Formats: sequence, structure tokens, C-alpha cells
Amino acid sequence: MASQAPRFKEAISERKRVSSPIVLALDVPEPSKNMDKCYRLIDELSPRICAVKFSRWFVLELGIPKVAQMVEKCHEKGLLTIMDCKLNDVGHTNERIAKIYFEAGFDAIIASPFVGWENGLDVIFRVARPSKGVILLAYMSHPGAKDFFEALVEWERRKVPLYVLCAQFAHEKGADGVVVGATRPEKIREIKAKFPDLPIYSPGIGPQGGSAREAIEAGADYLIVGRAIVAASDPSESLERILASLP
Ligand code: XMP
Repeated sequence: MASQAPRFKEAISERKRVSSPIVLALDVPEPSKNMDKCYRLIDELSPRICAVKFSRWFVLELGIPKVAQMVEKCHEKGLLTIMDCKLNDVGHTNERIAKIYFEAGFDAIIASPFVGWENGLDVIFRVARPSKGVILLAYMSHPGAKDFFEALVEWERRKVPLYVLCAQFAHEKGADGVVVGATRPEKIREIKAKFPDLPIYSPGIGPQGGSAREAIEAGADYLIVGRAIVAASDPSESLERILASLP
């Protein structure tokens, strides 16, 4: 019998053990003109990162075939790959989109919980399983996130903040993690305390004001870092500086 690929959640945890909790957001502007830089970053940083996250604009500009080659390169270096598409449509559309990304080789995708389960997220989980990952938003990193994520919603006859419901939903549905901004370490702490086994992916370090150290101290499992590394004059040195700041 053919052996099955390890599930994303375990695979990235194992990779983190031998590298670091850093997920590189490969946000290289104008990637079609800067392919060399993208490949150089993957090459140079791979021993010290666990995964590479691709943004939607990056994939739109470069196109799926070239992105698929880059994903393959990440895999050759032992890295996991995450598609940050914040997927959020009805079932049959989600199915097409998820299949395109997974067939391009991505190991996980980020989805929005707001479409709900039936004929929404359920289809994404079905396409992803058994080995691919689904990560759900719980509290985004930008200032405006508070407009909705902190709204009190009625759930099982109680009023709870939307971000708690998002994390609860991710936990119940067996998601591979949630995104909680490093800009809000108190929310990371709260979600980690409620759902200790739910991995937390934390973006917003550096230019958005979040601290890598505070995010990890609060309970983040993975740090999503883009400009603080990619736009630095010496990306390796910046990465090492972030790692040296961790508890
Ligand atoms: P910087 O340059 O700020 O980039 O380190 C962060 C990367 O992460 C993405 N990002 C998010 N993705 N939920 C997400 O799923 C979020 O709350 C969030 N905040 C930032 C961003 O698109 C960039 O690629």
C-alpha cells in the first residue's frame, strides 16, 4: 500500500523543530521581473524557516505555472507552502479554487470562516483532506480588523466576540490552525488558553507594529514575516535578528 503524505499540521510542526517558527511571506514586488530574487531568498533562508506563504497578488502576477515551479523548489528544500487566498465563496467555487491551488502543489490554504460550513468551508476541507491543510482567520493583523472581529455575536445563548467564535469553529472543524495578528498578543494569549492544540499563525511583525518576541511569549506557534525580511538589505541577517529576539 502506498504510504500517505503526513498531514500538514504534523509536517510543518516537524519542519519547525529542525528550523524555526518563521513562515516567510514571499512578498517580492513585481515577482515576474524578480524571479531570481525569489529563488535566492528560498535558497538562502530555507535552513532557518519552516514554510513559505504566497500572497494572492503574487500568484496573480506570476501565474500558476511559474508559482507551481517555485512551490516545487520550496519542497526540494524541505519547506511547506501556504497559499494565502483567504478563500471565501460558495461551495462549488471554493472547490475549483482549492483544487487549482492544491494541484499547483500548495500544502495548505488560508480560508475565511465567514462563509460558514455547509456548502462553504466543508467543501474546502473535503478537497484538502487527508493531507493538505486549511488555516482559518480568527483575528487579522491590521487596525480595521477590530471593526468586525471584536463584534459580540450570539452563540449558544451567550454573547461572544467574533474572534473567539472563529477560533472555536476552527477547533471544532479540525482546522490546521488559525491566523491571529501579532499586533494583538492579548488575543493570541486568550485563544491559546482556550484552544491549546490549535496552532496559531501570527502575521504583522515589524512594519505593522507587532513584536515577534511578544507573539511567541503570548503563545503563537508560527510567525508569518514578509517585509521585515524580504525588503531588508540583508534578509538573512534580518531573519537571524528576529530569531535572536525570541524567548
Ligand atoms: P508583512 O510584510 O507585514 O506581511 O510581514 C505579512 C504578510 O501576511 C499577510 N497577512 C495576513 N494574512 N491574515 C492573513 O491571512 C492576516 O491577518 C494577515 N495580515 C497580514 C499579508 O498579506 C502579507 O503577505
